Amino acid sequence: MGLRPVANWTIPSTGTLGSDMLIVHASQTGNAERIARLSAAAFPGATVRALETLDQDSLRAARRALFVVATYGEGDAPDRARKFEATTMAAPIDIGALDYAVLALGDREYPDFCAFGHRVDAWLHASGGRLLFDRVDLDGADIDAERQWQQQLSAIAGAAIRSNWQRADYAPWTLVSREHVNPGSPGGAVYRIVLTPYAPTIWTPGAIAEVLPRHDPARVERWLARVGRCDDPALRETLLDKVLRDDDGDAPLQALAHRDYSIASIAASGAVELLVRACPAPDGGLGIGSGWLTKVAPIGGAILLRIRDNPGFGPADPTVPIVLIGNGTGLAGLMAHLRDRAAVGGAPAWLLYGERSGAHDRPFAAELETLSADGSLTRIDRAFSRDAECGRYVQHLVADAADEMLEWADRGAAIYCVRQPCRHGERRRCGVARHPRRCAT
Ligand SMILES: Cc1cc2nc3c(=O)[nH]c(=O)nc-3n(C[C@H](O)[C@H](O)[C@H](O)COP(=O)(O)O)c2cc1C
Repeated sequence: MGLRPVANWTIPSTGTLGSDMLIVHASQTGNAERIARLSAAAFPGATVRALETLDQDSLRAARRALFVVATYGEGDAPDRARKFEATTMAAPIDIGALDYAVLALGDREYPDFCAFGHRVDAWLHASGGRLLFDRVDLDGADIDAERQWQQQLSAIAGAAIRSNWQRADYAPWTLVSREHVNPGSPGGAVYRIVLTPYAPTIWTPGAIAEVLPRHDPARVERWLARVGRCDDPALRETLLDKVLRDDDGDAPLQALAHRDYSIASIAASGAVELLVRACPAPDGGLGIGSGWLTKVAPIGGAILLRIRDNPGFGPADPTVPIVLIGNGTGLAGLMAHLRDRAAVGGAPAWLLYGERSGAHDRPFAAELETLSADGSLTRIDRAFSRDAECGRYVQHLVADAADEMLEWADRGAAIYCVRQPCRHGERRRCGVARHPRRCAT
């Protein structure tokens, strides 16, 4: 968690305004949960729950409910809500006289914009729920949609919410180093990026760095040439952090959106470490976010960054064993948990990791050896898919170790899985350390 508040509503605190209010979140990387908790502040006495913890009885028992629901994958439910969708949401159910509203979180760059939020809304409607107000679709950090939601909450809370929604500002972090950690790999180049803050900053393992990227000046130059504006130096500077639209050089300028990266380091280290794969873009350059961090930004220069907690992937109780499963740059989010375990001590940790080449793809190898030697990392299983003698993936490691994993689960292990699909081609989130999930405890 950063030292500065991410967001805050000031509300008149009056009695039990919300004792009949259920506030539900379905979140992959913490945004929906954060907004659900902020929304709860408007309804003292309200209950906040994750969608997957609900059943027909809990829905029937509620009189009013707010659903704050993200979409993940390709129009999918967040991982932990998938089972709920496949079972409870498979058909309309009797939810009694429930009044509800939905805030759907998404990103318009995906064709299935807010699709899961829309499905939740449709299912609640089909189940007999009555709308408190129309669904609000929230694209990234769309302030207008946030305000719309906030105003609707004010109306049903029956009390004005003083409108001081505060978002943490991006702060300039110093890019201390970038190290190419997989030379010779058959996969894309991966860099270990180290950044230090302008002021002491804290976060918990699992947190995500939101980085505001800037274009490679060469890309801006090509764009100016295409739209015939090469003689406009002010525009050249302005465009460095704006979306470059191919269609119309005179369209209103829109700021580039932030990119999310899992933080590999713990706050006690004083630096944020990221693992970033340089992702090719259709124009022959690098993707905007990965290009900025792995090539364009100068060492010693400033990177605008802010940190977001990811409670669904937060640290487990130190007395509980942890199983960390992931591949590629997804190792970043797992490293934060390993390092945390090493720092605070606790129950055993087990890492299952997949990459392409055993000879070239071993980020953090020396540190992992040290952690194994000092007992912080009890067991490590690796799979290298491109090695002739291996040819296997991390899921094969999991299948092979199924019995032992069940034993660990019986001992209460927290299991952290990182999905690292690069399914969105050249879309802007491609190439980042994928958002991890803590899929079971
Ligand atoms: C891998 C990935 C896939 C996503 N897929 C979609 C999608 O299909 N449709 C959509 O509207 N948003 C999609 N999003 C955007 C998220 O819904 C958005 O970032 C949201 O704020 C995440 O909320 P959360 O932090 O609560 O999970 C995707 C984001 C990621 C990282």
